[in-house]
Amino acid sequence: MRVASTIPEMKCLRREISGTLGFVPTMGYLHEGHLSLVRQARAENSVVVASIFVNPTQFGPKEDFKTYPRDPKHDLALLESEKTDIVFMPSDVEMYPQGYSSWVTVENITEMLEGSCRPGHFKGVTTVVAKLFNIVEPNKAYFGQKDFQQATVIRKMVIDLNMNLEIVVAPTIREKNGLAMSSRNAYLNPQERQAAAVLYQALTQAQQIRRKGQKDAEYIRREMYTLIGREPLAKIEYISIADAVTLEELATIDRPAVASLAVRFGKTRLIDNVILE
Ligand code: PAF
Repeated sequence: MRVASTIPEMKCLRREISGTLGFVPTMGYLHEGHLSLVRQARAENSVVVASIFVNPTQFGPKEDFKTYPRDPKHDLALLESEKTDIVFMPSDVEMYPQGYSSWVTVENITEMLEGSCRPGHFKGVTTVVAKLFNIVEPNKAYFGQKDFQQATVIRKMVIDLNMNLEIVVAPTIREKNGLAMSSRNAYLNPQERQAAAVLYQALTQAQQIRRKGQKDAEYIRREMYTLIGREPLAKIEYISIADAVTLEELATIDRPAVASLAVRFGKTRLIDNVILE
């Protein structure tokens, strides 16, 4: 496994590659969710590149950029064990040198849900992902469904800007109690971790109600509020039943929809979602 820490090094390694390149961008502190993306990339491509970069521009001023969990040694060992070929691990100044002033913005679908709770977040995500795509030049890039809105926004950017790659979205990997795997789960204390199982319970309840034929989105939202509201450690930020393509809130579920939520447990903010067929 080769590790590139500068952009010229990464570009030089890229030039040596023939065959398809599968790319897994990450912010490190890897878990099974990331590793399942690496495995899928490994199965579908000649070469696998992962990046580890905690992107400062996607964190708000009051968010957890400074405390975001980091363990690069362990991450490299995990990536090596999954037969990753190249890891791109740039520094902040490598990606954003002094005087940096170019941004990629996707409009509309970035305004709701995560976009309304975390202003500027998606501008940081699309900018860094566009930069990573330009540097790594992947044929396919892999993202987890847990960040459903992020994957939707990146797909839109790729289409709108005619980028020459395929975006693959892979299923959310969960703990035994249903909690979606996330690097931020490391912030949870044991009680909060146990309590956070209510999120997947509420999402599966939404799926069950929908499967029984319920089309009233507000009814399903209310049921989710009630279930999560019974958990004293949970502070709901949003619960949404939205169009799976435009992410606009639905009154009637008459098309593919996504149930998503953001809920705080102590200082930890968790997001999760499921598709409602
Ligand atoms: O999902 C993440 O870990 C990040 O948002 C990403 C896509 C690596 C961009 O920094």
